[in-house]
Amino acid sequence: LSIELDQYFKARRELIEKSLDQFLPSEQTYPEKIHQAIRYSLFGGGKRIRPILLLAGYEIFRDDLERAMPFACALEMIHNYSLIHDDLPAMDDDDFRRGKPTCHKMFGEATAILAGDALLTEAFGLMARAGLEMGSDQVGLKAIQELGQAAGLSGIITGQELDLEKQGQVYNEQDLEYISRHKTAALIRASVKVGGILGGAGESELTALSEFGERIGRAFQIVDDVLDFQVGDRDRKGSESDARKKKATYPALLGLSQSRELAKRLSREALKCLEIFSDRAEPLRKIAGWLVAREY
Ligand code: IPE
Ligand code: IPE
Ligand code: MG
Ligand code: MG
Ligand code: MG
Repeated sequence: LSIELDQYFKARRELIEKSLDQFLPSEQTYPEKIHQAIRYSLFGGGKRIRPILLLAGYEIFRDDLERAMPFACALEMIHNYSLIHDDLPAMDDDDFRRGKPTCHKMFGEATAILAGDALLTEAFGLMARAGLEMGSDQVGLKAIQELGQAAGLSGIITGQELDLEKQGQVYNEQDLEYISRHKTAALIRASVKVGGILGGAGESELTALSEFGERIGRAFQIVDDVLDFQVGDRDRKGSESDARKKKATYPALLGLSQSRELAKRLSREALKCLEIFSDRAEPLRKIAGWLVAREY
């Protein structure tokens, strides 16, 4: 990981967090508990990789990042909703996330469920408002459509459903591909693509961004599984490991080295998708490299 990319990530995280803070009610808002629960999770140390990818896709075409910021923040809100619900006792039943107690451990299950519901719902409201401000232009609506699909039945929901159904069961590579494409790659693919949509990309450019996003999204989940398998969630995130839960994962089925190879192959394929772009796509290229080399 180069220093340069480190600084890029840090600067982008600060920008995103400043906007996120502005788009949501303060912790002092009545009734305080729900706002505290939302902010506890949303500002709990996430990497912000999805909004960073959106902005990196956008900056291939335009420099005015502020215009894309409501969509970048909505994306991070959807992601954090999915994590709060993913950790619930009825799902992965994790007590820790990012080294801290999970939302339901801190605020109780009912408030955690509502915090997730709130983040998902508010994300779409935020995008609708931003879309309206863009005027007669349809790019806002296109972005919303894209994220609706990725968060819904073409993405997170069906991926999470199969992830849970396959837990403790016999599974094959096809199951793993379905799970990772849906629960993770769909939203990451949408992140990059929405960056392009908002930036005014043409059809072939959108296809390239979409295919790039799909591949790094799949690689991202494989690396998530690899890191969990290597050190166990107890060390990294402070929660039960996938192995203990008998989760369907790449390293459990293929072993560590084959899983890492697959992630690297997907990342190489992803980079090829970007060949049509100038050096304005350099941030996106660097992020793709980082995704498979990351240690956290
Ligand atoms: C974790 O995502 C869940 C997956 C889809 C693998 P991240 O690793 O992006 O989570 P944070 O927000 O940075 O903690
Ligand atoms: C979660 O996958 C993917 C989501 C869409 C929330 P994991 O269950 O592997 O994510 P972590 O490891 O708990 O972050
Ligand atoms: Mg899960
Ligand atoms: Mg989980
Ligand atoms: Mg995981």
